[in-house]
Amino acid sequence: MDKVVVINFGSQYTHLIARRIRELGVYSEIVNYDEAEKVLKDPTVKAVVLSGGPLSVDEEGAPKVGIDFIEELREKGIKILAICYSHQLLAYLYGSEILKGIEREFGPANFEVIRDSPIFSGIPKRFRVWMSHNDSVKEVPKGFIHTGRTENCRVASMESIDGKIFSLQFHPEVSHTQYGLKIFDNFLKIAGVRREWNLERIVEEKIREIRKKVKDDKVLIAASGGVDSTVAAYLIWKAIGDNIYLVFIDTGLLRENEREEVVSNLKELGFKNIIVVDAKDEFLSSLKGVKDPEEKRLIFSKVYVNVLRRAFNELNDKIGGFRYLAQGTIYPDRIETGKAQKKADRIKSHHNVILAHEFGLEIIEPLRDFYKDEVRKIGKILGISDKIIKRKPFPGPGLLVRVLGEITEEKLKIIRKAHKIVEEEAKKEPFYDELWQIFPVLLDSKSVGVMGDKRTYGYIVSIRAVLSEDGMTAEFAKLPWKFLERVAKRIINEIKEVNRVVYDITNKPPSTIEYE
Ligand code: XMP
Repeated sequence: MDKVVVINFGSQYTHLIARRIRELGVYSEIVNYDEAEKVLKDPTVKAVVLSGGPLSVDEEGAPKVGIDFIEELREKGIKILAICYSHQLLAYLYGSEILKGIEREFGPANFEVIRDSPIFSGIPKRFRVWMSHNDSVKEVPKGFIHTGRTENCRVASMESIDGKIFSLQFHPEVSHTQYGLKIFDNFLKIAGVRREWNLERIVEEKIREIRKKVKDDKVLIAASGGVDSTVAAYLIWKAIGDNIYLVFIDTGLLRENEREEVVSNLKELGFKNIIVVDAKDEFLSSLKGVKDPEEKRLIFSKVYVNVLRRAFNELNDKIGGFRYLAQGTIYPDRIETGKAQKKADRIKSHHNVILAHEFGLEIIEPLRDFYKDEVRKIGKILGISDKIIKRKPFPGPGLLVRVLGEITEEKLKIIRKAHKIVEEEAKKEPFYDELWQIFPVLLDSKSVGVMGDKRTYGYIVSIRAVLSEDGMTAEFAKLPWKFLERVAKRIINEIKEVNRVVYDITNKPPSTIEYE
């Protein structure tokens, strides 16, 4: 299958580039800049996109590829599209000076095509683009022609005279750029890439592949009821039938009725072997007195693995024959972007990656190459109902990250009630499907209020609702006041311990989506 590789220089938007290309029916994967050479050995690579990045090209430690690499791609006839940081990198490699902080632009800008180019084919001469740069290209290097500008950025686009390299200062992958998808479509046409990324066919192939690999062995999967693990389990079930065993762990950090709902959904799908482990006490007693967010996450992970290991050992003693551990890992879980160097700060420890070898099992990750929206499409192709496919992401550690500070029974009771109210109200709204997530968070402080002439001192609930394409960047949702007012009223009226509700108006970055 033809492939387009996105070379990652650390932009927050790198995954978006790959997603856009897949939307256009072409398989795309991300390769880090320091492994770029492997692209040259892969005959299925038909085009390369060089991503943006947060550093300056002449800064120490700035991620780079060499001019030889670019020239080799060119010789092989592999077309190149460079975006933002890479636009500057190309200019720099071919001899242009980079201006620092003179033509900086952040946000929308008006772009003007000043010379016809196949990359802008079928697009008006002027359109709005999304910019995010401090530096800029001073002059068009030798061997390139100048194709576009904005009010504040002279060399906003250029291309090589031989028509093999296209270079843009703006971000076509961001939805705020008009005709962004059309630019990628033009690029794929120029590169002559075949559009073979067809999920229906790939699903059938995956099922055949799993069947061939697993044969009569048994597969264990930790099912959470979320989209990824459910679709992964179902795909495997389609391949091998009842040799898949689902373990659902009740961590005590679930929402109201979540355990019952998840188990009933899984049964409805046809799974026969569902093992429910009640580990509430173990989780809650291990977390007693712990306030630090990272420590909470680490304890959670440790207990989770222990509980799963015990459940597995019991099962294996009873029936045996296990060879594989399946996981609902998806592509962004595996490929980290949004950082310029390998040693970036650990922001949060996600617990999802369980080491299969600890269990003496081999791993299978049927969804490892897919994005969330593709996983949802796969679920749909397999006939899984909307109530499961449209489920909003719920973090593995559950309410642990939505109750700030120490976890107590009282706080869990409050957050569960708040969750129920927020979900009930949100599901009635037309905007619900468009939201990436909407949930309440219980803050670890109290504030003064007045109810019925009496002073109160109660908890604060924060409502978080975001729009996002993959959870890596997010915008807070501009929800109607009437809706927020209704939710706040219900929370105050129905949860006596709470006397204040606030709405979170921060984007990611600088905030994260979850609070811990
Ligand atoms: P943050 O808070 O990092 O969240 O902006 C990004 C997305 O990831 C989800 N999330 C998790 N999912 N295990 C998960 O399975 C985790 O430990 C975890 N932490 C955050 C979060 O809900 C959001 O969609």
